[in-house]
Formats: sequence, C-alpha cells, structure tokens
Amino acid sequence: MAPDTRHPDKLDRAVIFLGPPGAGKGTQAMELAKKYGVPHLSTGDMLREHVSKGTPLGAKAKPIMERGELVPDSLVLQMVAERIERQDCSHGFVFDGFPRTVVQAKYLGELLKHHGYKRPFVIHLVIDPSVLMRRLTGRRTCKVGGEIYNIYERPPKAEGICDKDGGELMQRPDDREEVIGPRLHAYEKQTAPLAAYYRRLGLLHDIDAAKSVDEVGRQVLQSVQSVRGAK
Ligand code: AP5
Repeated sequence: MAPDTRHPDKLDRAVIFLGPPGAGKGTQAMELAKKYGVPHLSTGDMLREHVSKGTPLGAKAKPIMERGELVPDSLVLQMVAERIERQDCSHGFVFDGFPRTVVQAKYLGELLKHHGYKRPFVIHLVIDPSVLMRRLTGRRTCKVGGEIYNIYERPPKAEGICDKDGGELMQRPDDREEVIGPRLHAYEKQTAPLAAYYRRLGLLHDIDAAKSVDEVGRQVLQSVQSVRGAK
C-alpha cells in the first residue's frame, strides 16, 4: 500500500490562494491540498474542463478565456457553489484562482457561513510582475494528472513527459504572450483589490512568492499551521 502522505491534522476551512497569473497558486494549492487530503479547487481547471467537454458553460467561457478576460461572476459562482456541496469538501478545500472579484469574495463569505465553515484563510502570493512572463511562457502541464512544470525552472526529466505518470505535457492556449498581457491587466484591475478587502477582514497572509517552490511551500504550510484551529 502507498504510504499516507496526508497531513495528520484536519484543515477544516477554505484556504484561498490569491496572486497574479504565474505567481504559483496552482503549484502551491495542489501541494497543500495533497498534504491535508482535501480537494484542490481550481476554477481555471474547472472552466477548462467545461471547454474541452463542450458544455454550454464551456461554450460561453471559451472565447472569454482566449481573450484573457474574466468569465462573468454569475457563471463561476454557480459552478463553485455546486462543487463545494460535495461530500469530499466536508473537511475543507483549497481554492486556486477563486475568488477573483469582490463580488465573488462576498458571495463566498456568505456561502461558507451558510455551510457552517470557519472563516477562510487567504494566502497572498506576492511577486514582482517582471518575472511572470517567463514563468507563464515556460509552463507545461500534464494532461493526465495536472502536474505543473516549467521548461526553465522546473523541467521534467524527459522533455514533454510527466515524471509522475508519464502523461503528455501541454502548453495552455492562454500562455501565449499576447494573452498574458490582458490576463495581467485583468488581475490588476479586478482581482488585486481583493488583497485590501481580505486584509481589512484580518484574513490575509502575505508570502514572498519569488523564493523557490519548496521554500514558498514551507512558508505556506507554516502560515496555515499557525492559525489552524482558530475561528
Ligand atoms: P487560471 O487557470 O486560474 O489562471 P491564472 O490565475 O491566470 O493563474 P495561472 O494558473 O496562470 O498561474 P498560477 O499562479 O496557478 O501559477 P502556477 O503554479 O501554474 O485562470 C485561467 C482563466 O480562467 C482566467 O484568465 C479566466 O478567464 C478564467 N477564470 C478562472 N477562474 C476564474 C474566476 N474565479 N472568475 C472569473 N474567471 C475565471 O505556476 C506558473 C509557472 O511558474 C509554472 O511553470 C511553475 O512551474 C512556475 N513556478 C511556480 N512557482 C514557482 C517558484 N516559486 N519559482 C519558480 N517557478 C515557479
């Protein structure tokens, strides 16, 4: 039997990763969720799945994502509300890329209260925008398990193949330079104000995301452990 690598304590809350495209939200959220044995909820991944399955939601989201803009709140909120009602979320979950607007954050606050969750824990990945272009154009993602690589910083052992499950690595269509610009702009305009919103609520924890993946992961874990159990 494979060893149980989950963290021995329960998370029992929502953890939110906030930060610009390429800050490392997916990389860190996946790791933290694995440690605590809770779901990693990436709204970007959920939307991409809708796009690849050709659902009505996917059809609406596709052109918006291709332009690097945010999908309307109403579409995202319904998708998230349905997801966190599932049984696997009962011990907490890790959001990656949600919320992204103040409307989404307020709705989430109500939703968590309604389901009896503690207040969320918000990790703010702080990074100089000048490094993001290289991180995003260098990103490759496993088609099978979603493992995230970077051809410059974290290359796979064999080019184009996932070290973990042998899956094919792909480049996201929105990781082209001409789409990265609008994505960064959407972040500054619509998502960056969330840092002030959560700071006012006393829920924001800044982490220096320019450090190595392992070092950022250590700081994230330390930060989460420092408030675990708090209401
Ligand atoms: P989404 O999929 O959420 O993308 P994003 O926010 O643009 O963030 P990324 O996934 O690009 O970056 P990341 O921070 O996760 O970085 P990663 O860990 O991969 O959203 C895509 C689109 O969907 C949006 O544009 C929008 O249209 C729509 N959408 C999604 N959610 C929505 C919502 N809530 N509302 C409305 N619309 C929504 O790392 C990036 C690279 O850097 C990798 O190669 C990685 O290996 C590398 N790296 C990571 N950490 C480090 C480090 N410490 N040092 C060196 N390299 C590192």
